[in-house]
This record gives sequence, structure tokens and C-alpha cells, in this order.
Amino acid sequence: MYVTLSEVLTEAERIGSTVGAFNAHNLEMIPPMILAARDAGSPIIIQTSVGTARYIGMENLVALCRGMAEREPVDVVLHLDHSTKLEDIRDAIDAGYSSVMFDGSSLPFAENVLKTRRVVEFARERGVSVEGEIGTIGGTEDGISVAEGALTSPEEARAFHEATGVDALAVSIGTHHGSYKGKTQIDVGLVDRIHAAVDVPLVVHGGTGVDEADYDALRRAGVRKFNIGTELIVGWTRAAKETFGATEVNASLRNNIVPANDAVAGIVRHKIGCLLPARIS
Ligand code: 13P
Repeated sequence: MYVTLSEVLTEAERIGSTVGAFNAHNLEMIPPMILAARDAGSPIIIQTSVGTARYIGMENLVALCRGMAEREPVDVVLHLDHSTKLEDIRDAIDAGYSSVMFDGSSLPFAENVLKTRRVVEFARERGVSVEGEIGTIGGTEDGISVAEGALTSPEEARAFHEATGVDALAVSIGTHHGSYKGKTQIDVGLVDRIHAAVDVPLVVHGGTGVDEADYDALRRAGVRKFNIGTELIVGWTRAAKETFGATEVNASLRNNIVPANDAVAGIVRHKIGCLLPARIS
């Protein structure tokens, strides 16, 4: 089924699970991502940056994700990642996205609250979920660099949730976007303290740089949405480079692209296996 973030995360909270949110970087990789989740018996959150959404077309993304979600036995959320402009959010909701993130983390607290609350009011009337962010997550995403992040304070997280009513809250716990060459030092104790202070599903960004050995502790500490983006670019590009480099220019494109899609499906399957609690994986 085509569902909202709130529906998927409510169920994840009930069973103590974490749902993988995977950034799609082109249209090709989306069907194998959804089929990998179906095979792994997990819902999937397909998310796009605003740049990718504009490149592919929001309506095209909705048609593909909604169509597959209606045909396949798997729950699919289509989520707009890190949008900072209200017009992008409005366009995504009008096109049929089932979830959006308003990222006001670079704004002063009061302005972040005000703008996020406006997004929540607009989205809720249309049955769409909203993720907000408090604290800043550094690193590079979609070619845009953000300076070193400031960790989330549990008190600010609680005040932010109370004032905005977001369905999910992205927190800064030491992760960085785009770090695929080494693993990041994360503060699981901080997740525990935020979770104790505020009753909202927590989101970890920068999942590529998180050691898989830490997934279980994050899940137990209350992380319900876990974002992975860069690892999929790296997997797709490595496989595509190999195939494109080895084939004649008049060969079928499928020969080059299917191995890259298979690489992405393999990553999604593997990550879902790591994120699910042992008893239901
Ligand atoms: P990575 O690209 O570091 O995996 O982060 C993805 C992300 O957090 C998307 O918002």
C-alpha cells in the first residue's frame, strides 16, 4: 500500500523496529529498491532530495511509487528529504508525496518552530506526514555542504515537538551526511536521553557513515527512521562504471544498468536485514 510516514513509524514504534529510508538518485533504481523491501518483508521509505525530485519530476515519482505500492505486497512511503522552501513542499504535496521534511535546522529556534508548524498545518489537512529537524547534521548532501553540526539538546527536542506536532524528528547525534570512507562516532546515550524526553519517532540522517554494529543500539534507543543515501550512489556508480567501461557503445543499455540496479537492491536488502529486530528479520 501507498502509506504515510506516520503510519509506517507508528507500527515501527509498536514493534520496536527501525524503517530504512533510502535516497533514490535516479528513476532506474526505484523499482529494485521497492522489490528488495518486499522480499525482505519490510516497509520502505523512498526519499528524494528536492534536486532529484525536480530532475525526475514529482508526478513521475509519485506515479511509480504509488503504482508499485498498489501492485506489490509492500508498504511504500514517498518522502521529500531536506526541503527548506515552502514552495517545494507545496509542490510535493500537490503531486502526491505522502511525507515531507521541512529542514529549518539552520534557522534560529523560534523561526524553525514557526515555519515547521506552518508546514505541519498545511500537510496535516492533506493527510501528509511531516519530519522536522532540531540540531544540525554536518557533511555533504546532493553536492551541498553544511558545516560541522550542533548536537540536539533533549530539552529543545521536547519543546520543538510540543510546539510543532511533527510526526518524526531528525536529531543530530554525531552523524554526517556523505561520509562513506570511514565510520562515525555517534552518541547513542544522547538518543536515549532525547527518547526519554520526547515521545516522537526519531530519525537518524547520514546513515552511510554509521557502523552496522551500532544499528541495534540505535533501534533500542528509539530510532524509527534511518536514512541511507551515499552508499546507494557509490554502489550504483561502481557497478555502472564497470559495466559501461567494459561494453561497446551500441550494446543494450540494460546490460549496463541492470547490474547497477542489482547492486542497489543488494544494499537495500542487506540494510533492512540489519535494521529489523532479530525476532522479525
Ligand atoms: P548519507 O548519504 O550519509 O547516507 O545520508 C543520507 C541522509 O541522511 C539523507 O537525508
